[in-house]
Amino acid sequence: MSGVEERIDDLRRRKAQAEAGGGQKRIAAQHNRGKMTARERVEQLLDDGSFVEVDALVEHRCRDFEMDRNVIPGDGVVCGHGTIEGRTVYCFAQDFTVYGGSLGEMHGLKICKILDMALKTGSPIIGLNDSGGARIQEGVASLGSYAEIFFRNVRASGVIPQISVIMGPCAGGAVYSPAITDFVVMVDNTSHMFITGPEVIKTVTNEEVSFEDLGGASTHATRSGVTHFTAGNDDEALDLVRELVNLIPLNNLEKPPIKPTSDPSDRICESLDELVPEDPSTPYDIIDAVEEILDDRAFLEVQADYAQNIVVGFGRLGGHTVGIVANQPKVLAGCLDIDASVKAARFVRFCDAFNIPLLTFVDVPGFLPGASQEWGGIIRHGAKLLYAYAEATVPKLTVITRKAYGGAYDVMSSKHIRGDYNIAWPTAQLAVMGAEGAVQIIHKRRINSAGDPEGERKRLIEDYEDTFANPYRAASLGYLDDVIQPRNTREKLSKALGALLEKEEIRPARKHGNIPL
Ligand code: HXC
Repeated sequence: MSGVEERIDDLRRRKAQAEAGGGQKRIAAQHNRGKMTARERVEQLLDDGSFVEVDALVEHRCRDFEMDRNVIPGDGVVCGHGTIEGRTVYCFAQDFTVYGGSLGEMHGLKICKILDMALKTGSPIIGLNDSGGARIQEGVASLGSYAEIFFRNVRASGVIPQISVIMGPCAGGAVYSPAITDFVVMVDNTSHMFITGPEVIKTVTNEEVSFEDLGGASTHATRSGVTHFTAGNDDEALDLVRELVNLIPLNNLEKPPIKPTSDPSDRICESLDELVPEDPSTPYDIIDAVEEILDDRAFLEVQADYAQNIVVGFGRLGGHTVGIVANQPKVLAGCLDIDASVKAARFVRFCDAFNIPLLTFVDVPGFLPGASQEWGGIIRHGAKLLYAYAEATVPKLTVITRKAYGGAYDVMSSKHIRGDYNIAWPTAQLAVMGAEGAVQIIHKRRINSAGDPEGERKRLIEDYEDTFANPYRAASLGYLDDVIQPRNTREKLSKALGALLEKEEIRPARKHGNIPL
């Protein structure tokens, strides 16, 4: 063998060693758990043959705990770039077969390099997490690398989309990188996220809780709101990421990609004429309206199982991506509470950061009353949503389908906080509160002193409803741009969006605002 051949052979051997990761036994164990390996995941995520790996030959430099005898090129994380539907993304995938995917100094710095490249090139970063956390043998050096990642996540926030997929354990401070990123996808049954595990909790608080109850996908989808999407397996999770990436721009200087559609933008949505029930307290499903209006009725709901009294997600109108926020009359009558306010506020801020127009559907009787809401801070949490809408400069389109009461009327993308195109259906009611409550407050004495108090109450309620239980007072003040027949909603919104696409709105320069956190 010539000298050159020997060198090429040596290179092949090193690359093969990197590709083998923790070896066949550990790869088989990964498969037995229903999990793909890091490389399989990257291949599945990206367009065929598009992956370009970097740093496959990076090694840790830990000499403690006999680590120098166990050096695997790549150091437990596969990093690089590739394309999704032809658009460049950067990604990293932790390899659980190498030291349990644990994050040591060099493993962490590999992720930092990829984050830096993503930021420099204005490309999304997708992290596939499957890790035992900080590499214990490397001590503070691994904590340092974690913090370097956190710092970069914060620096990149609002500049490039950041997506975290949790495909195995994710514990301790390691959860904070995903938490800072824009979207968290968890895989049901095989992923867990928590700050401290069940054993520590048992020792400290005496609570007994299983891994799954504490930090499984369904817990974070329904109770904590940490996760935005839940997938049945690795395959589904990666498909979901591809779907999401296809909807959003590569960075904050771009507009979202346009997807031509054969769905006519003036399609009549007949079913919407009958959607809102006669009785104002009868619920209906606002998702029926959302789907009816969007291109091809395709709606990607975000945080579908959390704070279901508000619906958020993405769809397209005339090929343009829009972010939808909608009160859900089917759950808590569509009231805004703490969880719903925070959920929607974060979504609105993502859309605003990434030039995605907002389409808001309003049917809200107000903020949810109750001592637990007040003590939990509904004042400052509700303010987040108000702040997010007022701060947003993307095109804002609002459809009031039924109730728009009280402070919640103002919050939900009203004209006053700079809604650009605010319309209502004839079933809309814009008022300080519902008729019964209002009459009780302003006519208490009159009712009590009437010969027939019940009759008087009924008459006054009817009076109030005639005045306020419609959209026309607001329309006469210019608070609504139009009142439309529901079946024309898609057409009206499509035209308004078309006219608003080049909207520019400048706000005073400042370091940053002070959103009530
Ligand atoms: C080094 C680790 C490791 C770690 C796992 N391994 N976690 N090596 N540092 N943190 C290694 C194991 O030694 C083992 O090596 C291989 O990974 C697989 O681990 P197993 O325990 O055999 O697998 P499993 O039974 O599936 O359990 C997975 C696990 C468990 C739940 C992740 O390993 C575990 O609890 N690890 C410790 C988790 C933890 O407490 N991490 C620190 C969290 S605090 P071999 O050679 O046998 O295959 C933290 C702080 C971050 O991360 C702070 C950021 C600011």
